[in-house]
Amino acid sequence: MNHHQKLLSSASAEFTQVLDRHLSRRTVLRGSLLAALGSLLPASSLQAAGQRPLIGFRPVPVASGHGPLPTISPDYEFQVLIPWGTPLSADVPAWDGHPLQRPTARQQEQQVGIGHDGMTFFPFQQHSDHGLLVINHEFGYNQHVLGKSSPTNLEELRRSQHAHGVSVVELQQKDGVWNVVRESAWNRRIHARSPVRFSGPAAGSPWLKPEQSARGTLNNCSNGHTPWQTYLTCEENFDDYFGANKDWNPSDRQARYGLIAAGQGYDWHHLDPRFDLSSEQFPGEENRFGWVVEIDPFDPDSVPVKRTALGRFKHEGAALVEGGDGRVVVYMGDDERFNYIYKFVSSDDWRKLRERGQSPLDHGTLYVARFNDDGSGVWLPLSMDSAVLRERFESTAEMLTFTREAADLVGATPMDRPEWTAVGPDGAVFCTLTNNTERQEPTASNPRAPNPHGHIIRWRDSGNHLGTTFSWDIFLIADETHGTDDPDTLSSPDGLWIDPDGRVFIATDGDQEKGLNNQLLVAAADAEGRPVLHRLLSGVTDCEVTGITTTPDRRTLFVNIQHPGNGDPTLTCFPAPPGSQRIPRDCTLAIRRKDGGIVGS
Ligand code: FEO
Ligand code: CA
Ligand code: CA
Repeated sequence: MNHHQKLLSSASAEFTQVLDRHLSRRTVLRGSLLAALGSLLPASSLQAAGQRPLIGFRPVPVASGHGPLPTISPDYEFQVLIPWGTPLSADVPAWDGHPLQRPTARQQEQQVGIGHDGMTFFPFQQHSDHGLLVINHEFGYNQHVLGKSSPTNLEELRRSQHAHGVSVVELQQKDGVWNVVRESAWNRRIHARSPVRFSGPAAGSPWLKPEQSARGTLNNCSNGHTPWQTYLTCEENFDDYFGANKDWNPSDRQARYGLIAAGQGYDWHHLDPRFDLSSEQFPGEENRFGWVVEIDPFDPDSVPVKRTALGRFKHEGAALVEGGDGRVVVYMGDDERFNYIYKFVSSDDWRKLRERGQSPLDHGTLYVARFNDDGSGVWLPLSMDSAVLRERFESTAEMLTFTREAADLVGATPMDRPEWTAVGPDGAVFCTLTNNTERQEPTASNPRAPNPHGHIIRWRDSGNHLGTTFSWDIFLIADETHGTDDPDTLSSPDGLWIDPDGRVFIATDGDQEKGLNNQLLVAAADAEGRPVLHRLLSGVTDCEVTGITTTPDRRTLFVNIQHPGNGDPTLTCFPAPPGSQRIPRDCTLAIRRKDGGIVGS
C-alpha cells in the first residue's frame, strides 16, 4: 500500500463529505469523483505556521465590493502606480486620461502601455525599496486605446501596437511612497514592433523564417522569472491580431490556433501586411507568436528571446521551480477551453548549462499532462522518440511550432481553460482553471459541466518536480461557500501566487456573484485542511484584477487593475477621480498593511 492508498483508506469518508459540499449544487459524474478522492494530497501547504493563523486581516465585505473605486481591507492601504500613459523618459509628457489629448504613437513608445497583467519585481541587491518592475501589457481594445473601433491611419495603428508588450520600470520607495525613476538607465518599452530573436529547437527552421525580420511580442498575459534574474513574458491570444484582406481559409493547423479570416477586432491587418494572413510578404508571421519570451531587465540593450523549447500555444504563464538536481522546471497553462497543462524540464542543472554558454530554456523536454480519474497523473513527453509524433511531424521544430497538435495526439487531458500556475513552499503545484461554459461531460479533474465559475487543481510531481508521474486533487471549486462573509464569493479564478508561508493569493477575471467587482482573495486552510477565503481587495467596475508580485520583504505587494470600466468613463474614471470624465486607465496598486506587516497576513 503506497502513501496515497493509505490516505484514501483512512480519510475517504471525510473527504467525500468535503467534496459533496463542494459539488452539492451540481450534477457530477459520481464515479469519477469518488475515484478522484484517492488523490487527495497529504499535509496541506496551508497549515498555519506555529500557533498564529496565517491570515488575520479584516476582509472586504461583499456589500462593499462594488462601484467605481477599489475597496481594500481596513487593515490595508494602497497607492496607485504607473497608470497607462506614465512617461518612462524625461522628454515625454504624462497622460492623465483626457479623451481629446491621447498619447501619440511616438509618445506611447516611451510611456507605460495598457492592459497591465503579469509582472515581477526585480529588486536591486535584495532591497525592498528599489528595483525594476517588469510588467506585461496584455491587450487594449481599439475603443479603449483609440476611442474608435478600428485604426484608420498609420498613426493610430502604431499607437495601438506600441500600447502592447512589456514595460521595464525603475521604482524607488521613500518614506512609504513609491515613485517612478524617470531618468533611469533601465526604463524600457518592448512592444509589437521591437526586434526579437528565436532560440531553441525551432529557431532557424522553415516554420519561423524569415527570422531576420522577427519583430514584436503580443498579448503578453502572465509571466515568470528565472533564478538567473530574467523575466518571462507569455504570449496568449496572438490570433486576435491577425485577419485576411483577400480570400483566405485557415488550414487545420491555423484553425487549431483560432486564426480566422475576419479578424477578431483589432483590424491591424487592414494597415499592416504582417498581420494580413493572405499577404505573401510575411509568410508564417502567425507562427512567430504564441511563445514564451525571455527578457533581461538588467540589460536594456538585450534583444528579447523567444524560447521555442517551451512550445507554441496560448501561453498563460510560466511558473519556474528548481527541481531536485538543479534542473529548472517550468509549469505552463494553455488558456483555451479544452486545452492543456504543460511542463518543461531542462536537460541539466541550470548553472552547468549556463557555464557552458547554453540557456536552460533551450535544452530540455516538454511534457503535457494527463489527469487520470483515479487521482494519478502522467507527464507525456512531446518528443520525436514517440512513433505517433514522428508520423505527424518531420522535425522537433515542426512539432514545437504546432505544440497543440502534438498534445492532441499523445492523449493529454482537455482542461477547463488553464490560467496561472504556481508552486507552493511544500512543492505542490496549483493551476487555476478559470471556467468552461462549453463542457458537457464532467470528468474527475474537471468535475462540473458546464463549469461557469471554475476551479483550482493541485498536484505533486514525483521526483521533486522531475518525475513523469504525479498525484492530484481539486483544491477548490469556485462559487461555493469558502469563507469571507458569504457564499458565492468567487468566480473565474485566474491570477495565482503562493507565498513562502503557504498563503494562496487568487485574483479573478470574470463575472462575480452578487455584483461584486473582480477581486484579490487570500486563502489559507481551516483546521480540517479546507481552503478559507479572505477578500483583501475588490477592484473597480468592469476591471480584471491580475498580476501579483512582492518586494523581497513582502511588505509591499503589487497587483494590477486591468481594463477598468472596459475603458468607459461613464462607469469609472479610475485612477482619475469620479466625475472627472477621464478615460479609465490600467494601473498597478502598491498594497501595504497599515501596521507594516507581511501582505496577506
Ligand atoms: Fe490572459 Fe487567460 O488570461
Ligand atoms: Ca489570465
Ligand atoms: Ca482570464
